[in-house]
Amino acid sequence: MDLDLELSRATEAPPIYRQIAEGIRRQILSGDLTPGQRLPPERELAVHLNVNRSTVVSAYDELAAEGLVEGRVGSGTVVSRAGDDSARQGIAWNMLFAQAKGELSPWIRDILASGYRSDLITLAASEPAPELYPLAEVEGAAKFVLSQLGGDTLRYSPTEGTPRLREVIARRLTSRGANVDPENVIVTAGAEQGIDLLAQCFISAGDDVAIETPTYVGAIQAFQRRRARLVGIPVDEEGMRVDILERAIARRPIKLVFTIPSFSNPSGAVTSYERRNRLLEITSRHQIPLIEDNVYGDIYFETPPPPPLLVENSYDHVIHVDGVSKVLFAGLRVGWVVGPTPVIDQLALIKQYSDGFTGTFSQELVCRLTDNGILDRQAALVRASNKKRRDLLLEALRRHAGDRLSPNLPSGGAYLWCELSDGMKSRELLPYAS
Ligand SMILES: Cc1ncc(COP(=O)(O)O)c(C=O)c1O
Repeated sequence: MDLDLELSRATEAPPIYRQIAEGIRRQILSGDLTPGQRLPPERELAVHLNVNRSTVVSAYDELAAEGLVEGRVGSGTVVSRAGDDSARQGIAWNMLFAQAKGELSPWIRDILASGYRSDLITLAASEPAPELYPLAEVEGAAKFVLSQLGGDTLRYSPTEGTPRLREVIARRLTSRGANVDPENVIVTAGAEQGIDLLAQCFISAGDDVAIETPTYVGAIQAFQRRRARLVGIPVDEEGMRVDILERAIARRPIKLVFTIPSFSNPSGAVTSYERRNRLLEITSRHQIPLIEDNVYGDIYFETPPPPPLLVENSYDHVIHVDGVSKVLFAGLRVGWVVGPTPVIDQLALIKQYSDGFTGTFSQELVCRLTDNGILDRQAALVRASNKKRRDLLLEALRRHAGDRLSPNLPSGGAYLWCELSDGMKSRELLPYAS
């Protein structure tokens, strides 16, 4: 039997097994392949297409998971009736989605959803303790914003963010020693969107991106969605192992480096002054954009971390991501990216395709809560509260987990990194953790 399959081996093309599955899927849905019809044996099709047999097996598995084909003893893989039925019953959504289910993992979404359950204390997403929320001050700020600016706060604002908030962010960073103008700032729906836009801006399929291991799962997802090849650089108590980064750069061109230099999620690591300088030097020498995620930079328990990399950015290659989620509250969805103007312009062009306007009211609230000192006051409260919560959690872990978990002792941020004792796997533990 002849299957009409055209495969592309270009780097940006989907994986071959998905192209095979897609080609067969199309023929089943169009009726060119009919229920009961037998597909070529895996080995035969593999030879015909000049691919590994396992590639064809994966394609058939995907079609079987969608109910389009089934394996029958003695007659190989045959077109099932399911495609037929789903066509009659309504649209077969799973078959129309551009990304197969397996490519978009639901387990992180499920973990994050646990935050809304009243019967458990979630450790999944880091937010300030809700009892710290400055509700009266937010109410006051909302009244102020509405009385001062009226209906303008309820209108669309420019893609890059309101001029007022861009100015506030530039001023704050300048007061910390960075050289930032409002045009160097784009406001985003949280730091997470900032990272996603940066991934869209820089990554083509197959590009190498150096990240710390472990690192923030949202960044991993953003880079993976662009089909980056992730190059994990280990972290120790002084932060990213820049010696290993340098060796990685010598082996292959690295398109960008992503780092969380202050109280990293999840390791809690703080990159030392010396490592920061080397990181800046190596990346500038190789002309590699250096993205720093600074969302935990203000949450130190005793000693402030070294200044953000942006402050030492004499080569103009650092791109700084931050937001208010970790010190004020996460539900406002206000974050920002600070970088050279060509990068900010490019990010704005990309952003307008899916999110032309960031919420005006939330931006004005952040301006007001910054101007009247509430942001800084909250940062101080969160520092004390997170430290207390760290100590309580450590104590509970010691009491209940004994030597089965080895936690570290973060000096800031929101995460406690635990190593499991030998033989335990985190995936297996997950169902028992909620
Ligand atoms: C390192 C890091 N970056 C970014 C974010 C996302 O922040 P936002 O709420 O501003 O999108 C998080 C949230 O957990 C984080 O841990």
